[in-house]
Amino acid sequence: MQLRRCLVIGALVALVVGLGPAAWSQQVPQATCLDCHEGEGMEYAVVTSTPFIEIPAGNTTEYDVTVANPWLHDIASSLVTVNLTEAPGLSFDKPDDISRNESMEVPPGEARNVSFPVQAGATAVVATMTQTEDVSERGANDVDSRLVLPDGTVVGAGHDGIDSGDPAGLNLPEREPSKANTVERIIVRDDRLATTGGWNFTMERVGGDGTDPVEAQVDVYYNATPTQSQRITDTIGPNAADSATFDIKGSQEGEATITYTVTVTDYYEHPDGVQSQDEGNATLEGERTFTVGQTLETGDAGPAVPPEPPINWILNARIWGEATGFIGLFLIPFSLVLGGAFGRKNVLWMNKITQSARLRVLWHNALSFILLGVSIIHLILFLIEPVYSWSVGFVWGGTASLALVGLGITGAYQRRIAREIGYAKWRLLHIAMATTFVAATMAHVLIDGAHFDFLRNAIGLN
Ligand code: HEC
Repeated sequence: MQLRRCLVIGALVALVVGLGPAAWSQQVPQATCLDCHEGEGMEYAVVTSTPFIEIPAGNTTEYDVTVANPWLHDIASSLVTVNLTEAPGLSFDKPDDISRNESMEVPPGEARNVSFPVQAGATAVVATMTQTEDVSERGANDVDSRLVLPDGTVVGAGHDGIDSGDPAGLNLPEREPSKANTVERIIVRDDRLATTGGWNFTMERVGGDGTDPVEAQVDVYYNATPTQSQRITDTIGPNAADSATFDIKGSQEGEATITYTVTVTDYYEHPDGVQSQDEGNATLEGERTFTVGQTLETGDAGPAVPPEPPINWILNARIWGEATGFIGLFLIPFSLVLGGAFGRKNVLWMNKITQSARLRVLWHNALSFILLGVSIIHLILFLIEPVYSWSVGFVWGGTASLALVGLGITGAYQRRIAREIGYAKWRLLHIAMATTFVAATMAHVLIDGAHFDFLRNAIGLN
């Protein structure tokens, strides 16, 4: 009997190992956040804008584009672009161009900074470094200059007087190499200009020994353009909202339509067990039509975040699916101990706690049927909810379910079965099923369980 029991257990272990567990859990790869979460009520963002009815001509008015987060992720960044092409009577109130010129010494191996602000609506930034004389008399001095943007991006001209020309078509004056022939010019003209804030123009003398003065010139241009962009860099959490404000000026009376696009980056850190990307981008569009007239009149904006609760029943199905999994797992050891799965001493100890063998078995039955019920709910919830593919739990969850049903049947008809085949054989059958159940459940947890990264890491499965 002992030998046969060992054989049965051995065969089950061999089955679990032999099937190559990882190949038996299949989450279907999905391209976007919505592929998995749309049914759960996810939207990338909700975008609204100041509900102008009329704005006065001749004045500057603030126009807000509001980005709201209606679900459970974070909106890590949003790039808001406002377009006035269809609003002939409107223009952006543009800041004046700025120009800064500084003369300084840059000793070898040291860096010097010229800081300057760039406001929303900038169309180009030009940073030029000129070495006016050659003190070292060795010809060109190796000077490195670069622009550091507020988001940390570095744009560099490189060493040795590289001039990036005038690709932005700004009609810049020809560069005039000095005796030292070190003129560097960096031109930035792209959507990084949407970032407002303090910029740094850094110069560093890489080689040479002179401290001959250099001249740094920084020019920021704000051309009148029909579009302006701003980046919201603060994270917008669930149910929160943030806005980008644009200064617009009504010049001529009539109807105006402002169009806007917002590109959001949504973020959520999934457990490794969920095969999903954590970052997703979406571009949303909208428009606002109003008149440019005499007075400022604004309509009702309504709530920034839509009032529906973000937790719908489909999302609840997944959350409770996960919860019932944990609850079931938690019940297993109690059911095993009450059943006396750990030998003679275990049985005697439990008999003492429950006060009789009969009560112990009753407790074992009750708990086991609750476990069966929880498992069935767990199964049904995961078949209903749309995020996990049914194939995820098919092999191991399925095996565990069959074993659990078998345990229920052998448990419920213990007397009848024992009368037919004898108590010892009944017991072997029941134990074999329990072993299968525990082994398959363990595999199900380790292979399919999204929230068991910590276990997988602990045993080196990830
Ligand atoms: C392959 C399907 C899949 C894709 C694609 C996916 N997710 Fe998930 N997501 C899941 C699963 C499964 C969970 C549950 C695991 C968890 O709670 O962490 C989850 C959980 C979440 C949660 C937590 C919800 C809660 O229960 O509180 C958020 C928020 C989330 N995802 C956001 C995103 C975002 C944003 C994207 C796009 C970048 C995305 N997801 C893409 C499958 C996916």
